[in-house]
Amino acid sequence: MHALARLTTCASFLAIMVFAMNARAQTTQKQWQLQKTGDAPPALKLMDAPVRQPGEHEVLVRVHATSLNRRDIYVKAGQYRGEMKPDLVPLSDGAGEVVALGPKATRFKKGDRVAATFFPLWKDGRPKPEFLGSLGGGNFDGMLSQYVTISEESLVAIPKYLSYEEAATLPCAGVTAWNALVTRGHTQAGDHVLLQGTGGVAILGLQISLALGAKPVITSSSDEKLARARQLGAVAGINYKTQPEWEKAVREATGAAGVQQVLEVGGKQTLPHSLASLGFGGHIALIGGLSEFGGDIPAYSLMGPNATASGIYVGSRADFEALNAFLEKHRLKPVIDKVFEFENAPAAYDYMDSGSLFGKVVIRL
Ligand SMILES: NC(=O)c1ccc[n+]([C@@H]2O[C@H](COP(=O)([O-])OP(=O)(O)OC[C@H]3O[C@@H](n4cnc5c(N)ncnc54)[C@H](OP(=O)(O)O)[C@@H]3O)[C@@H](O)[C@H]2O)c1
Repeated sequence: MHALARLTTCASFLAIMVFAMNARAQTTQKQWQLQKTGDAPPALKLMDAPVRQPGEHEVLVRVHATSLNRRDIYVKAGQYRGEMKPDLVPLSDGAGEVVALGPKATRFKKGDRVAATFFPLWKDGRPKPEFLGSLGGGNFDGMLSQYVTISEESLVAIPKYLSYEEAATLPCAGVTAWNALVTRGHTQAGDHVLLQGTGGVAILGLQISLALGAKPVITSSSDEKLARARQLGAVAGINYKTQPEWEKAVREATGAAGVQQVLEVGGKQTLPHSLASLGFGGHIALIGGLSEFGGDIPAYSLMGPNATASGIYVGSRADFEALNAFLEKHRLKPVIDKVFEFENAPAAYDYMDSGSLFGKVVIRL
């Protein structure tokens, strides 16, 4: 055979091989599942699983990064409040590349970089019960999987300047901080913003506050972490362990006025201190339960200072898109504390619980 013809045949054979390998790569995959036996909390298991081809308005996404939220720790501990799907693929948050389209999918094209929204059905406007009832990494499969087949409506395009790892930090913690500070809080330049602890919501809240021209005041159990938060731009750092009545330090840091925004992630134990830190015309976003979910708000603590409180449950796709536009404009890079490889996913969970966390923990695929 002529040398050129032989080369062409060889190249065609190679192309067929690559095609066949790709096709094979997309029919089976590795994924982590939370498997439950008896009364024990669910255990993480790395499993082989089929890749489901996309239906009419779905796309197939090759996941490149996922991130952990405190909720994922509660789910793994068997504390999910709804009915957890058996053999659940955990983690609500992830980012990846569109690799295949369903026959009627039009919002994205192959190669687009996307992230999943926390509530797949909540596109815009007020929340409705039917929007808040379905949760990836809760009552249906989440993102800790090499591939996900997902409705095109539940995806957003990610900012071009962000890596997949950075974009994966946004769907829950980023959108929550945005909803609290901007959609519901209407934070203004010059406002003091109170952030609690140095976890995902708090550090993204700090970064967004700074870009809005606001002045973040942050609490932490660690002086070292407070120093890191000061380096990021916090105007004051308060150790909530050594100063249990930390509202006094908040008042000092704000010239006695108190703060105009609180991202209340601490819950039952921190709520009274947060209310005592709230300034006139302020807004408290009720978000979390790190100490325990719950607590009471005496009516006068809001009436007196003419303040408002909002219950926050992440946010809509429109919130996520607005956040992405804001991030793009300000070129904000989410703070990633540590990146774990897919095979070491259980170590990422352990790290979240180690007390070392500052910002977000990411798993790379
Ligand atoms: N409602 C919603 O839509 C929504 C959305 C996201 C999160 N959440 C909730 O908000 C909370 C925070 O979530 P996350 O994912 O940001 O958590 P995370 O990343 O795990 O943050 C943990 C950090 O919070 C700080 N912390 C722990 N206990 C604390 C306490 N008693 N008082 C003050 N700070 C404390 C610690 O910071 P230091 O080490 O600096 O002390 C810890 O490292 C969780 O309860 C989560 O379930 C709710």
